[in-house]
Amino acid sequence: MDILHYQKEFLTYLESEKWIQEPKNLYEPVDYILKLGGKRIRPVLTLMAADIFSGGFQNALPAALAVEVFHNFTLVHDDIMDAAPLRRGKETVHEKWNINTGILSGDAMLILAYQYFENYEPIVFQKLAKLFSKTALEVCDGQQLDVDFETRNDVTIDEYINMIRLKTSVLVAAALKMGAIVAETSDENANLIYDFGLNLGLAFQLQDDFLDTFGDPETFGKQVGGDIIENKKTYLYLKALEVANEEDRGKLKYLYRKKLKENTVKIADVRRLFELNDIPILVKNKIEEYTEKAFGKLAKMDVSEESKTNLKNFGLWLMNRSV
Ligand code: IPE
Ligand code: IPE
Ligand code: MG
Ligand code: MG
Ligand code: MG
Repeated sequence: MDILHYQKEFLTYLESEKWIQEPKNLYEPVDYILKLGGKRIRPVLTLMAADIFSGGFQNALPAALAVEVFHNFTLVHDDIMDAAPLRRGKETVHEKWNINTGILSGDAMLILAYQYFENYEPIVFQKLAKLFSKTALEVCDGQQLDVDFETRNDVTIDEYINMIRLKTSVLVAAALKMGAIVAETSDENANLIYDFGLNLGLAFQLQDDFLDTFGDPETFGKQVGGDIIENKKTYLYLKALEVANEEDRGKLKYLYRKKLKENTVKIADVRRLFELNDIPILVKNKIEEYTEKAFGKLAKMDVSEESKTNLKNFGLWLMNRSV
């Protein structure tokens, strides 16, 4: 089955839920962010994994929704932390309402996400809840490191990879593993699909960082240059420091020394320095490296070739996106 089919089934389920209740000021932002669109990557992965391991995905819909609600909660809080004005081409929750609304509606979403696991019997429930708690805490660890790195000037590429593993990859991996748990497949399969997701997640976040600087503002849906404004120590920046000559390295470090009010010149300067140092190609290479690593995990999995091809195609689709 193709990706669009899973997306459609997931959306039907999401839209059948009633998100708004009293007090409206708490739940309207929940409804807003959940229906704002997005690629629905994580729930699609949950459904695909369940389908691959059990020949059906219906049973995985509540777990898929839990993952997507949690993801959207992290976006609401992440946009506050990153001072981001735009999400999926629309105002972020804290811009449309205010920061306090973003905090509390986000908190509510985290709890709503957990509640979807109540749809499962004790053994599956426990496995899902355990994986989810571990993952959610790791995402917090990653988000804290991401913020810590803004004001550090000695971040290494290894530290960066560890940070994106925590803030992004573990959720992609857990989304897949939840599908495997619901399908009650072997631990070996569940762990292999988790590792597939971890590597795919790294490639995915590298791509996100690339698009943040080089994406098309018309289609990207987020503020292009946001990471530069916030002095995010992404792979683009760290690789540039590694390959650039003394002069360019000095310029980059200077540009990332403080946060500014007006960023047009900064963004243009940083982008030019990245281009001069072949960063777009170097990032692409790294993305390919992790995508290949992910595909290597699939090879070991005990499922049909057709299922492996489906997962592979999903990975390829993900790496060619522009949003
Ligand atoms: C954005 O995730 C946050 C990252 C981990 C990069 P997505 O790119 O999956 O966002 P949506 O849900 O499709 O909008
Ligand atoms: C997001 O990283 C990670 C989480 C939301 C946990 P980013 O800050 O790069 O995500 P975007 O670019 O705002 O979507
Ligand atoms: Mg962000
Ligand atoms: Mg962030
Ligand atoms: Mg980003």
